[in-house]
Amino acid sequence: MRIEAVQGDITSQDVDAIVNAANSSLMGGGGVDGAIHRAAGPGLLEECMELRRTELPDGLPVGQSVPTAGHDLPARWVIHTVGPNRHRGETDPALLAACFTSALDVADAVSARTVAFPAISAGVYGWDPAEVARVAVDAVRGWSGDVELVRFVLFGEDVLRAFTFALDDAA
Ligand code: APR
Repeated sequence: MRIEAVQGDITSQDVDAIVNAANSSLMGGGGVDGAIHRAAGPGLLEECMELRRTELPDGLPVGQSVPTAGHDLPARWVIHTVGPNRHRGETDPALLAACFTSALDVADAVSARTVAFPAISAGVYGWDPAEVARVAVDAVRGWSGDVELVRFVLFGEDVLRAFTFALDDAA
């Protein structure tokens, strides 16, 4: 599996699946969540509401992942996951690692071979980008399955540096 880190907007990535840093309600939000819903169009929220009416009446738990279609996005799938929120005392790195591994498990289940991740929890949820990068790279490196490319798509220069360092450091 190839792993790379680039600076950019995850909504424009031409990959099979992009991962959304959602919240448990799946009803959208700011940051990546807001950008993905804006780019995907209203059909994404409708599909998320259907998930809440059926499979996920209590919402998506932290560390778990669920797929939806990509709707108006270039990506065929959106894999929603919920990162740990440091402001709520959710500081266990295993919870954050589970976001990456459960999203890759979902990618395998839908036969997505190329997957783009944002820096989950490194924004509103208050985690240090360097720690997110270390946890993310370790989790992805420790995962095995049929995904061929994992692309970390970072918005800020500082976060890109953190992931580039984590990739070099773990090489
Ligand atoms: N593409 C790639 N990365 C992005 C984009 C984008 N379009 N927009 C923001 N980011 C970056 C942020 O700069 C940050 O580094 O994604 C990282 C994650 O930030 P958040 O989106 O705030 O995600 P998170 O910290 O996991 O907080 C999730 O925020 O938007 C709400 O509904 C969401 O409640 C949930 C919470």
